[in-house]
Amino acid sequence: MIKIQSLSKNYGDFTAAEDISFEVQAGEIFGLLGPNGAGKSTTINCISGLLKPTVGEVFINNHSVMGEPIQAKTSLGLVPQDLAIYEDLNALENLNFWGQAYGLSGAELQQRITEVLQQVGLESRAKDLVSTYSGGMKRRLNFACAILHKPQALLLDEPTVGVDPQSREHLLNAVEALKTQGTAVLYTTHYMEEAERLCDRLAIVDHGKIIAQGTVDELRSQLGEKDLITLQGDFSLTDEAVIAEFELIEWQDNSIRFMAENAAAQLSDILARFEADQVKQTAVQQANLESLFIKLTGRELRD
Ligand SMILES: Nc1ncnc2c1ncn2[C@@H]1O[C@H](COP(=O)(O)OP(=O)(O)OP(=O)(O)O)[C@@H](O)[C@H]1O
Ligand SMILES: [Mg+2]
Repeated sequence: MIKIQSLSKNYGDFTAAEDISFEVQAGEIFGLLGPNGAGKSTTINCISGLLKPTVGEVFINNHSVMGEPIQAKTSLGLVPQDLAIYEDLNALENLNFWGQAYGLSGAELQQRITEVLQQVGLESRAKDLVSTYSGGMKRRLNFACAILHKPQALLLDEPTVGVDPQSREHLLNAVEALKTQGTAVLYTTHYMEEAERLCDRLAIVDHGKIIAQGTVDELRSQLGEKDLITLQGDFSLTDEAVIAEFELIEWQDNSIRFMAENAAAQLSDILARFEADQVKQTAVQQANLESLFIKLTGRELRD
């Protein structure tokens, strides 16, 4: 339903997205997981036609976004990272506006408005001005506006950033419901937990490139059965031999990371190798997307 072929986008000399390729099938949620500046919005905006790719092609429902923009965009819904709703209108007025922009009218539009308001849990606030909404409620309305026309392909750019837990749950449930109905969903996030919960397959992106791609299980298996151990304290390079048998990820004066099998059981033995007051904090992370990102880049998703 969504097909991206060798997409690159340059801003002047700077390459924000480089050789990105993936496909999203109907009834599938595909995630783009990456930190700030990874190129997620650039990729989404090239897919929606807001940006022109420097190289590469994007197809929605077999229509080229550049070559046949009207046919391609008919099947597309976009929830942009920046809110695209009118604060001085209420939810009903916003939905009427966006519904008409997508070519809906009359009883069909009113029925869809009722349905999406219920889906995002905003029925009781539908007549209140958006300027009186919480951030999470605005995000829910932003989402509702994008799904009014039942798009077969839906692009979601960090739809849950800064929302309260209740709004997050509403949004995630709504995304899961769309998948069940056969929508192809492209979901960008820097929240590892959301990617693990929602995505059938995902690509981890960093500095504009896909650095790993697969199902959550496939990506986790790249770590083997190993956990990530992080020790904080005072270290010098001469200590490195102390953990020589483990896979070192990062060594800094105040923090070291390495991978170990069955880390919890080994931890006391490992700590005993350091001076008594050398290690101030310890953390053990089981194999997950965050620890894979750290292994691949040496950095955290959220730094
Ligand atoms: N119009 C622009 N001109 C120049 N550079 C840009 C422009 N838009 C984005 N960039 C740069 O491209 C890179 C990727 O930005 P992008 O917005 O795609 O990242 P992102 O993954 O969506 O990040 P975030 O999680 O913060 O939304 C960043 O380094 C950004 O500064
Ligand atoms: Mg972004």
